[in-house]
Parts: sequence; structure tokens; C-alpha cells
Amino acid sequence: MTFDKIYQYNFPTTIRFGVGASNELGDYLLKNSLSKPLIVTDATVAELGFFKEIVGGLRRKNISVEVFCDIHKNPVKSDVYKGTEAYDATARDAIVGIGGGAALDVARAIVLRVNHREDLFKYDDLVGGDVFVTNEVPHFITIPTTAGTGSEVGRSAIIADDETHQKKILFSPKLLAKIVFADPLLTMELPAFITAATGMDALTHNMEAYLAKMPHPLCEGIALEGISLINQSLENAVNNPDLESKSKMLIASLMGAVAFQKGLGIVHSLAHPLSSLLDTHHGLANAVNIPYGMEFNISGFEHKFRQIARALELKEETGEAVVKHLFELNAKINIPNKLSDIGVKHEHIETLADLAIADFAHPNNPKPVTREDFKELYSKAL
Ligand SMILES: NC(=O)c1ccc[n+]([C@@H]2O[C@H](COP(=O)([O-])OP(=O)(O)OC[C@H]3O[C@@H](n4cnc5c(N)ncnc54)[C@H](O)[C@@H]3O)[C@@H](O)[C@H]2O)c1
Ligand SMILES: [Fe+2]
Repeated sequence: MTFDKIYQYNFPTTIRFGVGASNELGDYLLKNSLSKPLIVTDATVAELGFFKEIVGGLRRKNISVEVFCDIHKNPVKSDVYKGTEAYDATARDAIVGIGGGAALDVARAIVLRVNHREDLFKYDDLVGGDVFVTNEVPHFITIPTTAGTGSEVGRSAIIADDETHQKKILFSPKLLAKIVFADPLLTMELPAFITAATGMDALTHNMEAYLAKMPHPLCEGIALEGISLINQSLENAVNNPDLESKSKMLIASLMGAVAFQKGLGIVHSLAHPLSSLLDTHHGLANAVNIPYGMEFNISGFEHKFRQIARALELKEETGEAVVKHLFELNAKINIPNKLSDIGVKHEHIETLADLAIADFAHPNNPKPVTREDFKELYSKAL
């Protein structure tokens, strides 16, 4: 499966998936009478060859392009405000997010802010702010360049407070992209470390979504197939990249995000505090925590771990075998198995546990989690 043809899927939105799909952006804009897009990306992607080619291709079609790339690694509110100023100052008519989860989240938050000018965090979904998302939003298009968050098919943006670094979620069905151009070619040059960390984020999405307590067979089927595709491709995508492994990772990451409409769980709640407190990359934080979080979930859910073990093609179809596999997979793709290897110290554990218990992900975990459980898991992983 190399996706040498482009296929169209309409769940959850229109997805143009395959080699060269990003070349369709210009004609799509013109067909929709859009000629002044704001392209939102990060400063690294803005310098890459494929990005310059996309922008050059649009300009050759007489499309006026404005690029906004002044964003943080873990995006903050002021990034969104600056991007909205760029949108206003040059009278844009659409927003195209091109990049990893960070750039796509900022793009989506700008989509919200253009016609919703109260304080951005008034729209925080965790305090019911989604009810204030009532106005129309600009035409929104996403082009992923990492295979991890699946933010291209998401309806939420994770944006942190500039001072407290607390992460807020902006959510609305209106924030779903009208179309996604998912082109595996754009991920070919991703550095091995980013492929590994983002790939483990995608695996975590699929596994946590599959286990999350809400019944949702549609998402569960997608999650199991996502796990299987990652099992076939992540090691190669990191250590021996080719178009097949990159294609499978890109579709599997997108599937993870479709599946986690069902919810996430304990691993994301262990991971989020590491990004807030220590600025750890989101995927890396999940990667180190996933074996420990999954071990916590086994008892009572052995039947589900049997299905996961099957998707991973393990000889022994048990939760313990899944956990062992996760440790081994991390080692093969050069991800450390201990939190102390990524800068966590004993004195961080109390604060991490406070942040984890307040996190939004674990209420969907199949088993309830207490602050004490979080402390124990962090100590074990240290
Ligand atoms: N909205 C959601 O549903 C959702 C879900 C999970 C995570 N997130 C957010 O996503 C962010 C993490 O996203 P990410 O894991 O994609 O990382 P990222 O966007 O931070 O990108 C990682 C690095 O890779 C570089 N990069 C991106 N594409 C590249 C390419 N093709 N070639 C070379 N380098 C490239 C970027 O410049 C960056 O330095 C976090 O801010 C997290 O909160 C959002
Ligand atoms: Fe994630």
C-alpha cells in the first residue's frame, strides 16, 4: 500500500490522501473563489523545500499568500492573537494550516478568533466555552507534515496560557477543516527523532481511544486498524524510511485522531503535565509513559488487550505481552524508557500529580485514576 493514487474519504471531513495531494491546494482555492489565504506554519517548516514549493505554486496561480510562522513549540495565546492580526492586516479570505500539531492548532485557533473576539479562553471547552462559538468561521484547510497528532482532522486546538502554561482546549464542530490534503511526501524528510515521538503519539491515540470507556464500535474498529498499520510501519519509518512506511504512519495518525472522538485516557494525563512543566514534546511524553499507563489498565480489560495484542501480531495475546512490546518498541526507535532520561526529577512528582489529576483526558480512561495512582506511576517510570 503506497498510495500512488489519491483516494477520497469523507469521514469525518473530506480527505484527499496520497502522494502529491498537496499539489491540489491551488486549484481547490480557486474553485472555491478563495485567493488570499493566510498560511499558518512554524518557523522550521517555513524554511523547508516542500513548503516553499507549495507557496511558489500558489503564487504562480496568482493567489496572494501571507505566511504566519511566529509560534511556540507548545503554542500560547499570544501566538493566536498575532496570527489573527496578520489575517486582519492583509484582509485574508481563508486559513491554511501546514505543519505538525503545533502549527495546525494555532491555525485552528486563529480560525476561531477571526469572528470571536472575546478573550480567547472564554471559549475554553472545559468550562463550557464552546457555547459561545456561534459566528461563522473562515474557510479552513489543513495539510499535515508530521504523522502524530492527527490534528488535521480534529475539531479542537490546544493552546496554553502565556504565563501559567496551563493548556486550554478550544473546541467546536465548526473548527473541523473543510478539506485535508494529506501527502506522505511531505513527511519524508522528518528527522528520525520526530518521526519516533510523533509516531508514538499516534499509537497512544489509537490505543487509548480503543480502550476509552465510551462505547463506539466505529471508532474502535478504526483504532484497531490504526494500531495494526503503526505496527507494520513505525520502525521502518524511523530507521529505514520509505514511502510505504511514511504513508501508513500518516493515515494511521489521522485514524488515531478520528478514533479519539471516543476519548483518551491515563497516558495523555500522565503526558500533558510534562509539556506544561518541562516543555517536553507531546509525543515524547506519551512515548515514555505509554508502557506504564497501559500496564495500569490491564486488569479488568484483558479482553480488550487481547485484541490489541492481535493487532500488534504478538505471539502471546495478553496485556503483559503488549506492555513488554511497548518497552521494546521504544528501545528500537531510540526513545528512553525512563522519565529521568527526559529531565524529570523526584522533586517534580507532586506537581506533576496535581496537574495530572486536573487533566481532561483520564475521565475517559476505562478505569478510574486517583492522584495517588498518578504519583505511583510517575515514581515507577522515574
Ligand atoms: N488538536 C489536537 O487534537 C492535538 C492532539 C495532540 C497534540 N496536539 C498538539 O500538537 C502539538 C505537537 O504536534 P507534533 O507532535 O506534530 O509536533 P510539532 O508540531 O511541534 O512538530 C515537531 C517538530 O517537527 C518539525 N517539523 C514538522 N514537520 C516537519 C517536516 N515535514 N520535516 C521536518 N521537520 C518538520 C517542526 O518544525 C517541529 O520542530 C502539541 O502542541 C500538542 O499539544 C494537538
Ligand atoms: Fe496526543
